[in-house]
Amino acid sequence: MSDKVIVFDTTLRDGEQSPGASLTLLEKVEIARQLDKLGVDVIEAGFPISSPTQFDAVQRIGGEVSAVVAGLARALEPDIDAVRRALEQTEKYRIHTFMGTSDIHITQKFGSDRYGKNLAEKRQKVIQMACDAVAYAKTFTSDVEFSPEDAGRTDIEYLVEITEAVIAAGATTVNIPDTTGYTFPVEFGQKIAALKDRVPNIDEAVISVHCHNDLGLAVANSLTAISNGARQVECTINGIGERAGNASLEEIVMALKIRSELWDCHTDIHTEEIMNTSRMVSMYTGMLVQPNKAIVGENAFAHESGIHQDGMLKNRNTYEIMNPDSVGIRESKIVLGRHSGRAGLKSRLEALGYHLDKERLKIIYKEFVVLADKKKEVFDEDLRAIMGDVLEQEDAFYKLDYLHVNLGTTTIPVAIVRIITPDGEYQDSATGDGPVAACFRAIARALGIRQQFKLEYYQVRSITRGKSALGEVTLRLHHDGDIYAGRGISTDTIEASAKAYLEALNQHKKKQELDLTTETVKEHI
Ligand code: KIV
Ligand code: ZN
Repeated sequence: MSDKVIVFDTTLRDGEQSPGASLTLLEKVEIARQLDKLGVDVIEAGFPISSPTQFDAVQRIGGEVSAVVAGLARALEPDIDAVRRALEQTEKYRIHTFMGTSDIHITQKFGSDRYGKNLAEKRQKVIQMACDAVAYAKTFTSDVEFSPEDAGRTDIEYLVEITEAVIAAGATTVNIPDTTGYTFPVEFGQKIAALKDRVPNIDEAVISVHCHNDLGLAVANSLTAISNGARQVECTINGIGERAGNASLEEIVMALKIRSELWDCHTDIHTEEIMNTSRMVSMYTGMLVQPNKAIVGENAFAHESGIHQDGMLKNRNTYEIMNPDSVGIRESKIVLGRHSGRAGLKSRLEALGYHLDKERLKIIYKEFVVLADKKKEVFDEDLRAIMGDVLEQEDAFYKLDYLHVNLGTTTIPVAIVRIITPDGEYQDSATGDGPVAACFRAIARALGIRQQFKLEYYQVRSITRGKSALGEVTLRLHHDGDIYAGRGISTDTIEASAKAYLEALNQHKKKQELDLTTETVKEHI
């Protein structure tokens, strides 16, 4: 029997920390359900103490999936209490607590004398705080994970010492994060091997790894760690995450599967669900997958050169090391059109991994009919885009009700907009250098926005083929040091732009509400 590698997915926690990738509650729940279908073992659903929305998402996901649900907590009792409160109704849950252990983290985060007068004293204080946190978490659940943050740059003697101590305090998983993506595969592998050799009670816990991709080595580091005894990998769909991202789930899983002769290990991932999951995460986060991305990129199975195409026709194995079917890429034979009924739409969306109750199906069907009237054929990507749009709208405060734009080669563009909110309707008009600028200005005037929102990024792309293809606009607004991302879709790119702009303003509105309600934890570590 080969060893199982536990797949711990952190798309909804570390992945959501990607700049501009914020997800609504409904989108998170939908992604969690799809991760469950994919077969991940643990879903890290968020960081409950950090905001009420994070708390709600963790709580809601806890009731929706069969995977173990984890919540993140600093090594502080209020953080641990927040995870416990969010997940106490959940059958299997994990408290994941962490503390910085590299010298730079210790000296910078625990600079005050109350943590010790010198590095040696501070290190001992950190061990004591970590053990107290683990023991406290253990009073609520048997499943406790501890991460010595920045383990990649932590002195190995100290890492051995703290690992032994937290296991003795009750940690059932010790996660070794390469928080800054600094280490090299050989080095990281040696670190895992050293822990396996030198921590006397290491067999009482699972060794996990959590690699960031700052040098493009996150997957290589994770795989080398597995070769050296790690049996849990923390990863994200499409490799999204803080800065350059986390190790990509699909790359690790497929490497273990395709080169199974190199490892006596397996995962329980249903690889045919990889593509659906990747597309869903990309659509909801607005983070496009680069075309040449391994496994899930648009070009991952495309053969361009004549020599390659010729080889492929003779035998696929000449240029393909895995079958596209094995990751869920199928040439869809089903194309929906204006005559397709509700049942056909529902079954196609379910095959793509979406969950539909009656009410939502009604709304989606309405959108689908409008699109099918404009386009002859509605492809899977169109359906994914509609799903993304509808979920976003369900949660939105500002909604676009009406848009009219006047433009011509010799006239100054004028836009008129009407926006509905739970507080009432707002309408105004404005001119601009171009129709999109006029639109943005009209929205700002209608909502009485005077603060400076700087448009930092604006991109239009066509989601599918044809002249009536759906266009997707993604943009980012910068305001007061924060970034707000928005995405809008429509067959009309100006309307898509207006929706994207409103979506970014919705993010800003949510942030304002959070700032008012979030209980800030004064203790700073
Ligand atoms: O990168 C990191 O160190 C983390 C920890 C919280 C595990 O995300
Ligand atoms: Zn991380």
